[in-house]
Amino acid sequence: MEVLNTYNLIYVRKEMIAVISVKSPGKLYIAGEYAVVEKGMPSIVVALNQFITVNIEDTNGINGNINSTQYQNNLVQWKIIDNQFKVVKYNNHDFEYVISAMKVTLNYLSSLGYKLNIFDINIDSSLNSSDGKKYGLGSSAAVTAGIVKAILKYYNLNISLEKVFKLSSIAHLDVQGNGSLGDIAASVYGGWIAYSSFDRDWLKYNRNMKIKNLVESDWPELKVEPLTPPNNLELLIGWTGTPASTSSLVNKVENNYDKNDYNKFLSDSKKCINRMINGFHKKSLKLIQKEILVNRILLTKLGKFTGINIETPKLNKLCKIAIKNNGAAKSSGAGGGDCGIAIIDKNLSKDKIIDEWKNNDIKRLNLKIHKNL
Ligand code: PMV
Ligand code: MG
Repeated sequence: MEVLNTYNLIYVRKEMIAVISVKSPGKLYIAGEYAVVEKGMPSIVVALNQFITVNIEDTNGINGNINSTQYQNNLVQWKIIDNQFKVVKYNNHDFEYVISAMKVTLNYLSSLGYKLNIFDINIDSSLNSSDGKKYGLGSSAAVTAGIVKAILKYYNLNISLEKVFKLSSIAHLDVQGNGSLGDIAASVYGGWIAYSSFDRDWLKYNRNMKIKNLVESDWPELKVEPLTPPNNLELLIGWTGTPASTSSLVNKVENNYDKNDYNKFLSDSKKCINRMINGFHKKSLKLIQKEILVNRILLTKLGKFTGINIETPKLNKLCKIAIKNNGAAKSSGAGGGDCGIAIIDKNLSKDKIIDEWKNNDIKRLNLKIHKNL
């Protein structure tokens, strides 16, 4: 009898588990960092096979629960009142992006006429290393996009990637207030993309517009183009072991530059990234590698005239080792630690780069590009 009871219990629980499951990839900047924070500036970003998983299950409770494997004690509870999302229990700020993404997506569904109900959300992240260290692969963007995608899937609503990007960007910007949103684009589109940032002042100005109309509007300067890399292109990722705060690095640039130097940086970066995109169109690894090196120099110059340590000594070592061994290399993202990248010909040996990185305490992250199906 008892065995049967246990069995029944498990069976019932199984029926309720993971109605919806969505994997949202982390990202890595290839080129165009810092410039892309300005509207209309291009960058190249990739999505990686390191994910945040969002599960949604139906609930019989009176409130919906939000759980995360990373923050086990921080349960958030929520309700639907007058067809609107309301948080009823919330202890700390670890779930800001999750809550923002829920609010925006549920508000969007409500504006389309959906009748909302409560459910449980469980979040699991593999964007940190097993010992809990952050690699800087963009967990806030991945979780925001993951929640948006999971809720849309739960309501069986199939909308364009551009709209998913817009909902996720609104939710992310509501919390962070700055940033290019290239990480959101990578997480939503997957693969390799050329991303030009939209005018965030325009969005802030129009933020009170009905969300359905906002999502359906053209967003000034926004451009996302999926890219196909040449067959012989291989991306190597090295992690220098020191996590950096992207937000504080970007803020330092904002407060700290000579206008002429900065404008020159922007126009040079734009030309460089456009030539690099052309390298993708032409399937020319050589062109792409050449512009990776140009972009590295531009970022180093930016670091000099703003006084920001973008290419740290360890990132510098990472680049030198890769370049000495036939790669083109640069820091990735905001720099100041975290990851650097090397682009090499697949047909050449990469062993020397990886070995020398290892001898210099630089860890190769053996990740692959994640293409969304
Ligand atoms: O450090 P990451 O990988 O999060 O990249 C930041 C890239 C910046 O251009 C410096 C900032 C941004 O929001 O695009
Ligand atoms: Mg970073």
